[in-house]
Amino acid sequence: MSLLAIIGGSGFATMPALQVSEARTVDTPYGATSAPLLRGQLGKREVLFLPRHGAAHHLPPHCVNYRANLWALRAQGATQIVALAAVGGITPRFSPTTLAIPDQIIDYTYGRDHTLYDGTSAGVDHVDMTAPYCEALREALISACARVGQAVVADGTYGATQGPRLETAAEIRRCERDGCDLVGMTGMPEAGLARELGLCYASLAFVVNWAAGKSDGIITMQEIEDNLAGCAERIVTVLTSLAAQIASTTTIND
Ligand code: HPA
Repeated sequence: MSLLAIIGGSGFATMPALQVSEARTVDTPYGATSAPLLRGQLGKREVLFLPRHGAAHHLPPHCVNYRANLWALRAQGATQIVALAAVGGITPRFSPTTLAIPDQIIDYTYGRDHTLYDGTSAGVDHVDMTAPYCEALREALISACARVGQAVVADGTYGATQGPRLETAAEIRRCERDGCDLVGMTGMPEAGLARELGLCYASLAFVVNWAAGKSDGIITMQEIEDNLAGCAERIVTVLTSLAAQIASTTTIND
């Protein structure tokens, strides 16, 4: 039995398309989750939903309790997790309002609780991260986009930066030299923790601005909010199609 969970990012503190049947506060060994876990119907399928930055969008990326969030989702039965991610576009294919399903990550974050193996419990497992996202779920997302007629870039390297400030132009040039196409602030440690927990995790990213130095002007919140609003309905359409198909198209940790 598979259960899809959606982690909402910026622009997705709530998901009005979800018909909520339950809001549950889950105790975890790592403390509180960003918000109670919502269970409800998206289209005809049951899904879990958790807003990463809290229901009031009060948690900046470095203050999110990623360990608690992922642990709680698994404890509530989630097998597949789609992480929504508002991102900046670095390389030309990733212009604002582009939907993308990245296939690689580089982690530039620091000081976050990034592992379940924190020396307080027995042992350590060095999980493989060669392919950091669950390929079966990436493919299911790509198919969902095709079914609902949404163009998507089906690959790309996501650079996870610390935030909450945006990057300097030189930092973005370094990310580009490293091979990053996209930049966001939450992709790590989320993806690594999902792997440690054996969860099938993929990201549906949407570009809300050109990254620093990639356009003529500075980055404004207005621009980000306008592009977020422009992407929201398309993302819900993709997620609804994904939820309808997921049981028959994916298996865990493919
Ligand atoms: N940088 C980092 N994170 C982001 C950006 C950005 O330009 N846009 C949206 N999230």
